[in-house]
Amino acid sequence: MGAILVIDDEPGIRATVKDILEDEGYRALTAEDGYAGLDLLRVESVDVVILDVWLPKMGGIDVLKAIKADHPAVETIVVSGHASIDMAVSAVKLGAFDFIEKPLSIERLITAVRNARALSDLRLENARLKRTKAEGDDIIGVSAKMTEVRELIDQSARSDARVLVTGENGTGKELAARRIHELSARSGGPFVAVNCAAMPDTLIESELFGHEKGSFTDAVARRKGKFETAHTGTLFLDEIADMSLSAQSKVLRAIQEMRFERLGGEQTIEVDVRVVAATNKDLRQEIAAGRFREDLFFRLNVIPLRMPALRERVEDIPALADFFLERLAGQPRRRLSRGALEVLSAYAWPGNVRELKNFMERVSVMSDEDEISAETVEHFIARSDGKAPEVAPDRLDTLSDLRLAEAREAFERGFLVHNLRKHGYNIAKTAESIGVYPSNLHAKIKKFGIEAGE
Ligand SMILES: Nc1ncnc2c1ncn2[C@@H]1O[C@H](COP(=O)(O)OP(=O)(O)OP(=O)(O)O)[C@@H](O)[C@H]1O
Ligand SMILES: [Mg+2]
Repeated sequence: MGAILVIDDEPGIRATVKDILEDEGYRALTAEDGYAGLDLLRVESVDVVILDVWLPKMGGIDVLKAIKADHPAVETIVVSGHASIDMAVSAVKLGAFDFIEKPLSIERLITAVRNARALSDLRLENARLKRTKAEGDDIIGVSAKMTEVRELIDQSARSDARVLVTGENGTGKELAARRIHELSARSGGPFVAVNCAAMPDTLIESELFGHEKGSFTDAVARRKGKFETAHTGTLFLDEIADMSLSAQSKVLRAIQEMRFERLGGEQTIEVDVRVVAATNKDLRQEIAAGRFREDLFFRLNVIPLRMPALRERVEDIPALADFFLERLAGQPRRRLSRGALEVLSAYAWPGNVRELKNFMERVSVMSDEDEISAETVEHFIARSDGKAPEVAPDRLDTLSDLRLAEAREAFERGFLVHNLRKHGYNIAKTAESIGVYPSNLHAKIKKFGIEAGE
């Protein structure tokens, strides 16, 4: 069983959380910033990271991205103060397992850790099953739009033409690129992905074309570039719009001639590579703004493949949700109720399929219902979406004659009385359940003249 790593810049929080975790029988490690945390992850076996979003040096969101990229089996629980709640919500969209608000509730913390561990176990088990089953990367979707996408993928796979995949974040651009490779005559060769956005400008050329020893300060050894590694296979240039203009001109030359030199090298290297590129930006707009070379665009855009946003193909949501649930849940099979599917279909999914996938993973470990209900889905959607839940119109009737400030106060008072009553007028419990500090709740009780037993 792996350890739990706490990354937080406040020594008090590190010590307290470590104690709590150790009392629960976990092995706990601590780090005071993102760099120290990532160093630990490289050498220790860690299942779950508890990460403060607000960190000095490297911000929590960047730490999360690095964890997701380099340690995909590790689950992250994000901790945030009230002021950084938006960041915590974005973290969940990026694949954080859950977020907890400060002040930390011990119970919430322990439940989150337990659930996150359950998910990382499931993931490991799944990876094991996948290896034994050798299942391909299925592209799920019954909509006319996805049928078209699949046809275009099949067609592209039959040729060696360059493909430009476009679409919003999380729509399946990389999945499509892999599928094209798998179905093509090059499937015996490598599929090599390069994320052009994740690399500093100075490194991208050495990443793509390789370098000779000593060609620049950090080049301690000779290194092959991705163009060379992809020889006989497919090179996937991801986030192509984020490449500098100078890198663009080198890529243009390389794909035209299939020949290039390593950085600091003399020898010309010839390769046989198919290029598939992807972007979530509008390249025509980038061209107009002078940020993208038009000639490179025409070279890359031989077959345009547009991945539709999930909200344009709502009819795919049930099949996708089922697919992610089934892949995770194992035996016994769990189902989504009709109502749950309706709630899923009504949501806009700004993070597209990736957001739906993360969401299903979270729901499947956070709920133990055999048939997942609409209420459960609603509860977790409301939490990850960051928007205020809508109040039913009939509840608003009584407030509709008031001015906004009066209505807000009337609502707040009623809401507080209701929740205080629910918790037997226990200030600490009520404050926690509605997400405010006890001192804040005290002040409001005074302001509204609420009396115990009201
Ligand atoms: N139609 C689909 N069927 C099954 N899984 C899918 C489908 N579309 C996307 N996914 C899954 O959703 C996740 C996101 O997909 P992918 O990484 O391909 O998206 P992307 O468009 O490259 O996103 P980004 O722009 O954020 O890089 C992956 O785990 C992928 O396997
Ligand atoms: Mg991608």
